[in-house]
Formats: sequence, C-alpha cells, structure tokens
Amino acid sequence: MGPLPYILIAAALGSAAAIPLEPRQGSNSTIQCAPVPSPFPSWQQLPQQSTLPDPFLPLKYTTPDNARDAMAGRGQGRVQTRDEWYQCRQPEIVQMLQEYQYGYYPDPSEEKVAATRSGGNTLNIEVTGPGGKTGRFKATITLPSGASPAKPAPVVINIGGMQNQPYLSAGIAIAQFDYTSVAPDSNAKTGAFWIIYKGRDIGVLTAWAWGFHRTLDAINMTVPEIDATRVGVTGCSRLGKAALAAGLFDKRITLTMPMSSGVQGLGPYRYYSMSGQGENLENSKQGAGWWTNSRLGTFVNHAENLPYDAHTIAAAIAPRALVMDQGTGDQFVNSKGTAVVIYPAAKVVYDWLGVGDKIAISVRGGGHCDMSGFTSILPYVQKIFFGTPTTKDFNSLGSYGSPVSTAFPWATAVPKA
Ligand SMILES: *[C@@H]1O[C@H](CO)[C@@H](O)[C@H](O)[C@H]1NC(C)=O
Ligand SMILES: *[C@@H]1O[C@H](CO)[C@@H](O)[C@H](O)[C@H]1NC(C)=O
Repeated sequence: MGPLPYILIAAALGSAAAIPLEPRQGSNSTIQCAPVPSPFPSWQQLPQQSTLPDPFLPLKYTTPDNARDAMAGRGQGRVQTRDEWYQCRQPEIVQMLQEYQYGYYPDPSEEKVAATRSGGNTLNIEVTGPGGKTGRFKATITLPSGASPAKPAPVVINIGGMQNQPYLSAGIAIAQFDYTSVAPDSNAKTGAFWIIYKGRDIGVLTAWAWGFHRTLDAINMTVPEIDATRVGVTGCSRLGKAALAAGLFDKRITLTMPMSSGVQGLGPYRYYSMSGQGENLENSKQGAGWWTNSRLGTFVNHAENLPYDAHTIAAAIAPRALVMDQGTGDQFVNSKGTAVVIYPAAKVVYDWLGVGDKIAISVRGGGHCDMSGFTSILPYVQKIFFGTPTTKDFNSLGSYGSPVSTAFPWATAVPKA
C-alpha cells in the first residue's frame, strides 16, 4: 500500500471529527477561528517536531498525537484562506509568541507619551504608564538634505548604530535611541521601561521593541520633516532580535530589517548547528536569559516542542516588508540556517498571501554585524520606501545555494488560497 490511501483515510477522519471554531473579533464576521487554547499548552502537551512547524496549523490542533501529520502539513483544522490567516492565525501567532517567548507587550492605550525636540535633533521622550510612573529616554535624529514638512523623508529607526551615510544620501532619515536607558542588556531591570513595568515577566527584547515604538510616537509628534508612515527598524545581533520584535508588535512599521539576528531573531531553534557553531535555545537562555520571558526557559532541552520557529515570527509580519541580512562568515548566529531554512519557509507564507516581494534576504560576505550589510540591503529599502526598482536579486541565497526544503515539508501542501 502506497502513501495515497493513508492520506485519504486521514482526510476522511479529519472531516468526520468536529473541528470546534469560534468567531473572533475582526473586520469579517463570517470567519470562524479555531479557539486559542487557554491556558496555553506546556511543552509536554505539544508534539515534538524535528522540522519547522506548519504555520497554517492553529495551536489547538498542534497536539502530541498528531506530530507526524502536523509536520507534513496534514493536520486538521489548518487555515484555508487569506482572510482566516489575517483574522485568526496571525493574531494567534502574535499572542502565542508573547506567551512563549517575548512576554506580553504593554498596552499602548494605557500609556501617555510626551515628547520635546531640543537642539534640532534630540528628542526627549517621556512615557507615563498605567501605574502613574514615568520613564524617560532620548533619541537623536539625522535628516537627509532636502527633508521638509512639505517633503518629509522616510526614516530608519536603529538601535545600537548603523551605517548612516548611504541612507542619508538616499534621502532616508536616521533615528537612534539610547536603548540602555530604555532597558540595560542585563537582569538589572532599570531604565525607562522597567520604571513603568517592573515586576512584569517581559523579555528585554520586548522592552527594546517598545523603545522603537515610543521613539516613533515622538517622531510623529515633533518631527514634521519625517514621514511617520514610512518607517524601518533595524539593529544587529541581539539588537537585530529586538528589531524583529519591533516589526512584529507594531503595524506602523513598514519595513523590518534585522541584521545577523540569530536565535530569538531569525536564527532557527531547530537546525541550529548548520553553520558549524550555533546559538541555540539552551545557550541563549543560559547566557542572556533576560532577553525573553521565563516561560521560554521551560522549553530548554525541549526546543523541538516549541510550536513555532523563527519562520513563524517572520510570517506573522506579512504583508508588511521584511528584509534580513546575513554574513557568510558569521557562524555563531547560524547565518546558513536563516538563509536555507527560515527565509524560504517564511517566504512560502508570504507567497501564499500574494506578497512574495515583501520578504527579502541579503547573503553577503563578511562576518557578524559587518556594517556592509546596511549597503547590501539598501536597494531593497529604497524599493519599499520609494518604489525604486532594483536589479539586485533579494531572493538569492548566495553561496549557500538552495533552500533545504526537507525542513518544511508542509510547504508541499499549502492551502489553496
Ligand atoms: C469574509 O471572508 C469570507 C471567507 O474568506 C469571504 O468569502 C468574504 O468575501 C469576506 N467578506 C469580506 C467583507 O471581506
Ligand atoms: C501620528 O499622530 C496622529 C495624531 O495623534 C495619529 O492620528 C497618527 O496615527 C500618528 N501616526 C503614527 C504613524 O503614529
């Protein structure tokens, strides 16, 4: 007996079993969503998946008894339409990532943001939280020549520094905020974010993401020379992980630009040794546990039970643009894994949503946080901000060659959108 009858039997069982669905708040009231499990399952209640989890499969149907079908894209209750993706699955992913990795992003409607601009290019940002405490930090802006309220420039907000000049020359403003005064890269829990949110189980990557967003609030309030509807976010390494989170948690971000971001960024939890070294769940939680919440720690030594991987984070950013930069000399963050596994798996979802040109990769020579990465992605940034065509192939995996499609077997069974 070949595999076909097995699939038919599975399909017949799938359609016979009742799939509970519930309406979820959204623009389209005819759509029924799989309920988000409450409480969220523990690692023991999730299937061990050695390949990248199926992004189309709701968490409710990601159960230990169906690991094989789940990995192959044969799970029941998969999202079938783009409307279901945007109204059911994407919000579920964002919630799931907060539960298992980032901690819950604070509700911006409970904050009051004030900003002043001094000396032309310094923004003084003050955020008062729900408990009445006020955190303060600063950002600096650099405008390209010719930017004016009548002709505002797009902006790239960066954390930790970037190569500014090519961007300024291209007519793009640069903003940078003092991230250590938002939250230090440690367990210290000082800085503007922790003044407001001390005691919450939130990762520092989320605190830094918040810093990007409050900087954007301040730009929108005080810098009419910047167009706050064309916004990129970038950073490298741990700060690239933060840039990814910044893109995930705020739909105002037009373009997410994580550089050499590694695990908890766009490095895979699975396949972590593809580059010969390997940042992974275990060593990142051990070395800098504060980047993420405590719940992620419960998956240490059980990373294959995570119901997501880095491709899931990337896919949840669609239809907004995402460009990732990786250096072939950068073994520790597993550049190769990001290129041959994560990028193509996320692109399956972008393609399925009809926005395949909104995800891009640059694979360049050079190592970790090599500043040349910023010029490497610039043509794509110009395409997104200005519609400038580029002949550079931002779908090329460079010397890494081709995608490793055995890492995402569900891609052969994408739903008919
Ligand atoms: C709502 O979703 C259904 C199913 O995807 C689709 O057929 C319908 O056109 C959508 N309606 C609106 C108003 O978007
Ligand atoms: C800028 O502020 C205005 C007024 O509060 C608001 O309506 C708009 O959504 C803001 N834009 C961004 C990009 O934050």
